[in-house]
Amino acid sequence: MSKVVPIIITIIIIILSSSSSSSSSSTSYFNIPKTLQQDASHNFNTASSQFLSVHIDYINPETPLTVFVPDDHAFADASAAGYKTLPIEKKYFVLKCHMISEYLPPSLLRNTANVWWHLEATVATEILENQKYMLNFSATVNGSVAVSNTYVQAIVTRTIYDCSPIAVYGVTKVLLPRDFPDISPPPLPDISPPPLKTADVSAAAVCGF
Ligand SMILES: *[C@@H]1O[C@H](CO)[C@@H](O)[C@H](O)[C@H]1NC(C)=O
Ligand SMILES: *[C@@H]1O[C@H](CO)[C@@H](O)[C@H](O)[C@H]1NC(C)=O
Repeated sequence: MSKVVPIIITIIIIILSSSSSSSSSSTSYFNIPKTLQQDASHNFNTASSQFLSVHIDYINPETPLTVFVPDDHAFADASAAGYKTLPIEKKYFVLKCHMISEYLPPSLLRNTANVWWHLEATVATEILENQKYMLNFSATVNGSVAVSNTYVQAIVTRTIYDCSPIAVYGVTKVLLPRDFPDISPPPLPDISPPPLKTADVSAAAVCGF
């Protein structure tokens, strides 16, 4: 009987601690496509489907990450610049060029940009150990934060999500790199084939992204 009480207490402690950790969301993944789709501006539907199609979807919520997400207009512009026709592994690479494995909340982002300009390595840089794929933060004259890859400059327009250690911002351009590395990026899990071209033009226009 004297042994039963500590066991019961232990069980209660385990139950309490597991329920408190599940309520702090540390056990659930951060879903980028869903967050983008649910944004009140409704300006990130293309981005949502892009992140989903390259399987950048379920993110570990405990790993620091900042993502700059091009809005729907940006993807419309970028498709003119060839984004739309890129093979899926290059699209994956382009999106990794918009990600930094550091948590930059809005105040820090602003301060970073205000120190004239500042370079940060993207996840693409880390994968390749290649200094080419950096992002340059700077402040514009009107106080907006600009993010550039030295070919394309985007303006940060919106905080889509900010919950330490993950921040997601909306930007006005796709930061398409001028060239791509020769080495093949890490294999993607279970890639679905690109949408088939059908005679139904309206459906293709929607599914193309
Ligand atoms: C970063 O951007 C600023 C502002 O546009 C520019 O003056 C600076 O030369 C850029 N630095 C690099 C390394 O591209
Ligand atoms: C600030 O300036 C940038 C260009 O430097 C422009 O794209 C942006 O729309 C401006 N933002 C506001 C709020 O006027």
